[in-house]
Amino acid sequence: MAPYKPNRVVIIGTGAVGTTTAYTLLLRRRMPELVLIDVNHQKALGEALDMNHGMPFIGGVKLWAGTYEDCREADIIIVTAGASQKPGETRIDLLRKNISIFRDIIQKITKYNSHGILLIATNPVDILSYATHKISGFDRRRVIGSGTVLDSARFRYLIGKQKEIDPRSIHGQIIGEHGDSEVPVWSLANVAGIDLNFTEEERQSIYENTKNAAYEIINAKGATSFAIALALDRIVDAILHNEGAVLNVSTLLNNYNGVSDVFLGVPCVVDRSGVREVLDLTLNDQEQALFQQSAEKLKGEISKLDL
Ligand code: LAC
Repeated sequence: MAPYKPNRVVIIGTGAVGTTTAYTLLLRRRMPELVLIDVNHQKALGEALDMNHGMPFIGGVKLWAGTYEDCREADIIIVTAGASQKPGETRIDLLRKNISIFRDIIQKITKYNSHGILLIATNPVDILSYATHKISGFDRRRVIGSGTVLDSARFRYLIGKQKEIDPRSIHGQIIGEHGDSEVPVWSLANVAGIDLNFTEEERQSIYENTKNAAYEIINAKGATSFAIALALDRIVDAILHNEGAVLNVSTLLNNYNGVSDVFLGVPCVVDRSGVREVLDLTLNDQEQALFQQSAEKLKGEISKLDL
């Protein structure tokens, strides 16, 4: 009988996204073990202590502030550490700062772990997921970016609000960059298989509000945290429960609608292996052109990096 190996999730970074994600995973009791790591160990200690004091109300999760050695037994390592957008900053503006942080973090993780799944949330997430794949040498299926899972949720929320329908009943997706070049797939959006029949003005408004959501939130409260935490929780759940869920995570593309050698958000089947397979979309000409533009934008940024 193989010894029971509890699922362990490690979160690197205890800023707004990291701690909110930790709290979400804890409330939903996603895993038996949850470890928080931060370059500021005191911060990780404080967050762990604060959450542990709530255990009598939750139970079932062993949580602690740890070190990179705790990555050894991790099934999933979520990386949220790095600089986050300030008002007026794009996600790409963070690249120079965060790529150097990532070189350090990924090398520290892979010193102890060669089998887990690396789930990247730090922005610019698609480029940093690509960098993680290169630095770690992990199989492409086990390096996953949060991608356009959050953007697709925002898209479905806004469509549902317009239609006064529960967003869980809206079929709609955003593909491409998690950022300013993201692509709405209007040609496949529907409710119960029925076309949405939006005017061009309605489509443009929903798209702009989806694409600019983070800027609006950052201007209002300084950072986003809750919806990205729920998106990361959804991805973790799909992995730990071997769901085979279709989620628009960021994955390394290989001749996907003619696009290769870049991480972008596209519909992927996510299970305990990571990205088990990528689902091909039939895009209309406009969507195809926008997807190519999104890919070229990110490949241009990648070409400036020494990876
Ligand atoms: C956002 C961050 C996670 O879109 O990029 O909220």
